[in-house]
Amino acid sequence: MDHAALQAEAVQRIAAAETPDAVEALRVEFLGKQGSISGLLKTLGAMSADERQSAGPRIHALREAVTAALAARKGALQGAAMEARLAAERIDLTLPAPAAPRGSVHPVSQVMDELAEIFADLGFAVATGPEIEDDWHNFTALNMPESHPARAMHDTFYFPDAGPEGRRMLLRTHTSPVQIRTMLKAAKASPGGAPLRIIAPGRVYRSDSDATHTPMFHQVEGLVIDRGIHLGHLKWTLETFLKAFFERDDIVLRLRPSYFPFTEPSVEVDVGWQEVKGPNGSRRMLGGDGDAPGHGWMELLGSGMVNVRVLEAGGYDPSEWQGFAFGIGVDRLAMLKYGMDDLRAFFDGDARWLAHYGFSAFDQPTLSAGVGAISTGAGA
Ligand code: PHE
Repeated sequence: MDHAALQAEAVQRIAAAETPDAVEALRVEFLGKQGSISGLLKTLGAMSADERQSAGPRIHALREAVTAALAARKGALQGAAMEARLAAERIDLTLPAPAAPRGSVHPVSQVMDELAEIFADLGFAVATGPEIEDDWHNFTALNMPESHPARAMHDTFYFPDAGPEGRRMLLRTHTSPVQIRTMLKAAKASPGGAPLRIIAPGRVYRSDSDATHTPMFHQVEGLVIDRGIHLGHLKWTLETFLKAFFERDDIVLRLRPSYFPFTEPSVEVDVGWQEVKGPNGSRRMLGGDGDAPGHGWMELLGSGMVNVRVLEAGGYDPSEWQGFAFGIGVDRLAMLKYGMDDLRAFFDGDARWLAHYGFSAFDQPTLSAGVGAISTGAGA
């Protein structure tokens, strides 16, 4: 048997194989269990020692040459297949990418950002407190003792179990307990008190529900404590804030005597509006003197000078420190600025509503240009 001729023929057939399948078929034909070269290897056992010595190396060399040829051809065919694929496949990077669903910033978050921005320019820091409160911070320290009738007005959600220190636990009905928490912290850091300028935006809860009331809503509390603070500082601060927020210079405020247990005197603040005629009928716009013809007043927020008892509960000496406080509905501010008319839709999570009224994450909150240029009246 001429091993050299056998090898030449095998190598030539392998080189001529055109597909990986053809290469595999040749491997089976030569080296498989029933393969011809495997068959040759089996004959070695029956040979005499002399025969084996001369035939053995040649058969092994034959097997190695064929194995190498098979591997080389397989590699070449795989490489060619890859080349062909690379040449044929194309990604068109100029095609527009499919739209990725994008969320939006809720109007309440947007308005809270705007509030923080405007009040930061006036020197106010942002303070927070827990939504699960105790009745001491939510009521008692705010001059509403156990039997106070104003407690009943708040439609409070109470928890069945008492909290630490045996206090009754509740969902805070307003952001005013943050006044107490902030004062106590400041008075502790600097015994006797220290000037304070904070806003406290957040969620509040009352058992109430209709087109303008939801069981959860948002307020922003404002608190300034310093020496020589009076109602003029309150009015200037609110006016400056509302002008920046509504982006109108003609915001006119009216202060009406009112009552809150935690402020004395208390004032309800109204803002003037006017009837503006447009293509789809007329609508009310904020701005202008509410007493002018075709104008009116709208109740906007509650405020007043911090009650002496509240200053004391907060750790301040009222003979030295005075303050003003206010509380505004954040959802209401959003409705007035951005034109929604049903508060309940704020919390429905309807994607269409959110797409319409929501803001891009890239939107800047209302710029308070100009506000910073005016000297900060409050506490200055
Ligand atoms: N906490 C009051 C409310 O929820 C608002 C308020 C805050 C009034 C601060 C005066 C001062 O109605």
